[in-house]
Amino acid sequence: MAFLSDTLARVKPSPTIAMSNKAAELKAEGRDIIALSAGEPDFDTPQNIKDAAVAAIAAGKTKYTAVDGIPELKAAVCAKFKRDNGLDYTPAQVSVGTGGKQILYNALMATLNPGDEVIIPAPYWVSYPDMVLLAGGTPVPVECGIENSFKMTAKQLEAAITPKTKWLIFNSPSNPTGAGYSHEELKELTDVLVRHPHVWVMTDDMYELLAYDDFTFCTPAEVEPALYDRTLTINGVSKAYAMTGWRIGYAAGPAPLIAGMRKVQSQSTSNPCSISQWAAVEALNGPQDYIPENNVMFTRRRNLVAGMLNEIDGIECPTPEGAFYVYPSIAGLIGKTSAGGTVIDNDEAFATALLEEKGVAVVFGAAFGLSPNFRVSYATSDEELVDACTRIQEFCAGLA
Ligand SMILES: Cc1ncc(COP(=O)(O)O)c(C=O)c1O
Repeated sequence: MAFLSDTLARVKPSPTIAMSNKAAELKAEGRDIIALSAGEPDFDTPQNIKDAAVAAIAAGKTKYTAVDGIPELKAAVCAKFKRDNGLDYTPAQVSVGTGGKQILYNALMATLNPGDEVIIPAPYWVSYPDMVLLAGGTPVPVECGIENSFKMTAKQLEAAITPKTKWLIFNSPSNPTGAGYSHEELKELTDVLVRHPHVWVMTDDMYELLAYDDFTFCTPAEVEPALYDRTLTINGVSKAYAMTGWRIGYAAGPAPLIAGMRKVQSQSTSNPCSISQWAAVEALNGPQDYIPENNVMFTRRRNLVAGMLNEIDGIECPTPEGAFYVYPSIAGLIGKTSAGGTVIDNDEAFATALLEEKGVAVVFGAAFGLSPNFRVSYATSDEELVDACTRIQEFCAGLA
């Protein structure tokens, strides 16, 4: 009898974490490595948020809390949804967990039965399909190509829905593409969902505040109020507030679903870190002025990276609406051989050879369910980005 479970055999470790680890290992060996693989901002958590955490420690807020969040944080979450999204929620409709990741996992664990299908537009954030598998469901990836800016069309959604569909996982702006759905584009999808009342929406709005140019963020329950009773709206403080290590994510949705998620959390981790919760209260209620300032910087970096990558013959790099990623296609490079002798027969070979030969770590598209592409995280300094993109240009110039 195998010791490890069959469920475990169905899932893979996170390829983005694996790539970051590989880059860190090479760096530790003394290699000159630039990592464009991490999904986190390169700046520090704002001081007011750190101060709130220090004050929480000093005030002895260091004990167990309510399983899915202190009342003060739930109130801050309700206020945030009202302020930014025009959505009304009560604290009983709010769940706080250890990162957006735990929120997603709890929701899937609380709702999926064997055979239940979850529609996942691809490319997708790496964890969605594996979390669905861990929870016993069936992921249904739907390829959304570069020709439609990596966005799902109404026709594709309609075609993917079956009587077994339980959830659509929606993510805008997206990891890994940065693509953000306009109100009109999202309305086309919500119109389909209105016609299929058995399908629920899990919307991952983690990159809501990282939106550039004239893009206006919108979320399904706001675009189509008829979906309010079957939408779980997920968000968190990790990305916009540079708090990836603090591990606080949250969601709002129908109270029975929130109660189910609480039950899962009560038998796994219990409450998220008490100190981090107080820090998150400050993040949501405190000044927000650094967010547009950071977005000016991210817009500049996005333009720099997309510009330099688009100079390369064989690479096509769309300029997306948000997040801190671009997802260039390498379709024009497939079949070539690198200066170091690697045949670029897929995007994994491209990313591996680029790391080995030029010391630039990116994540290959197959990890996100759409090839041949790679993901660049531009959440690093302009100098490093110029250096990395110059190396990518040199690497591609050496392909024959
Ligand atoms: C799309 C998306 N959802 C959720 C998460 C998880 O965020 P957290 O760090 O809050 O668990 C990430 C983090 O990379 C993400 O990119």
